[in-house]
Amino acid sequence: MTDWVKSAWRNKPRVQMPDYTDEAALNAVEAQLSKYPPLVFAGETKTLKAQLAAASRGEAFLLQGGDCAESFAEFGADQIRDTFKVMLQMAMVLTFGAKVPVIKVGRMAGQFAKPRSAATETSNGVELPSYRGDIINGFEFTPEDRIPDPNRMLQAYTQAAASLNLLRAYSKGGFADVHRVHGWTLGFTEADEAEKYRDMANRIQDALDFMRAAGMTADNNNELKTVDFYTSHEALLLEYEEALTRVDSTLGDTIAGSGHMIWIGDRTRQPDGAHVEFCSGVSNPIGLKCGPTTTAEDLKILMKKLNPNNEAGRLTLIARFGAGKVKDHLPRLIAAVKEEGANVVWSCDPMHGNTVKSDSGYKTRPFESVLQEVQEFFAVHRAEGTIPGGVHFEMTGKDVTECTGGAIEVTDENLSDRYHTACDPRLNASQALELAFLVAEELSQNAR
Ligand code: PEP
Ligand code: CO
Repeated sequence: MTDWVKSAWRNKPRVQMPDYTDEAALNAVEAQLSKYPPLVFAGETKTLKAQLAAASRGEAFLLQGGDCAESFAEFGADQIRDTFKVMLQMAMVLTFGAKVPVIKVGRMAGQFAKPRSAATETSNGVELPSYRGDIINGFEFTPEDRIPDPNRMLQAYTQAAASLNLLRAYSKGGFADVHRVHGWTLGFTEADEAEKYRDMANRIQDALDFMRAAGMTADNNNELKTVDFYTSHEALLLEYEEALTRVDSTLGDTIAGSGHMIWIGDRTRQPDGAHVEFCSGVSNPIGLKCGPTTTAEDLKILMKKLNPNNEAGRLTLIARFGAGKVKDHLPRLIAAVKEEGANVVWSCDPMHGNTVKSDSGYKTRPFESVLQEVQEFFAVHRAEGTIPGGVHFEMTGKDVTECTGGAIEVTDENLSDRYHTACDPRLNASQALELAFLVAEELSQNAR
């Protein structure tokens, strides 16, 4: 769009954003961030878009996953490595099952800002503003921590830059070499799906041995030695997003420099709101969460605003309805897409419609509901003759106990053992792998 300016969102109604009290401090942070280098390069976002265009045609599959909220306290190399490992394992399972390239996109290196259903939280009779992610305020339940502090944006930027640096090194420096397919296993995944993974890895190893004998090695074939790994996050904190927006000198495109792909959350997708206005003008691939309250009319307006040229790969619709509800909502949105002849990637987020409070008081997600929503998503696409193009998960490489169920069963009583999330409950590594096998099974069924 030619008349778009990166600050235009400021004239639109905004929701879910903090009211900073210290305007001078905010301005200083914005000025500083505006001078910092962008984290991603326009050419990369363009390549990702082309890969997503392939996913919209069923020629590739999107795997998007990572933390609900990255945190300053949990930041470290092991954390990044383990989530990266699980993503590689899941991608291997999906590639093996679906026989199409898997596009790997982390909810990483920028996933810091959180929309909340309630503006305040009450504990022991004390009411404080809700925690909104480490880029905005602090997790500790104290009045000081809950004050939005613009300087947190600088720390988030630094953490994102360091995370992306390590991810780039892992992707290109040998760690992701497919010959290491056995090496991505995490020590604690010892259930059935670990056995299934080992079997699959052995078969891949055989294929690689054959290819080596035929002259194809990692040394003469870069595809075997490296992966493309992209970053993504919810574009919620628009002061941060605007400050990192850049016009690319080679392509002339305006891109959000904060990550390769950004998405609009279910709570911030108002067609005339600030978040849609901002995302309409940057040329990155955009995700749009679609929940039970998304109407066909709104979706049509949003598709026109966010993808006026109907560019394939630009827009990913991330369905998140909840188990048992996909049939009630997805068909009307698929109909809207068909009526508009719109090019979209359909992705399934089986996490955000399945959050419940356990008897013990923890926010959790039953693994069966997660599996069920994925199955319903595939079933509806099969019935409609449309293409399921991807999945979107909250997961971690750590052995956490946040979602109940799974092959190594997490029970309500176990939740307190290793409940570490700063926001929503994540799948642990073995649950994530189990889910990947289920998705691979659905995809290979489609291929048949
Ligand atoms: C999220 O992806 O972390 C999130 C808050 O999702 P949604 O906007 O779909 O609720
Ligand atoms: Co979440």
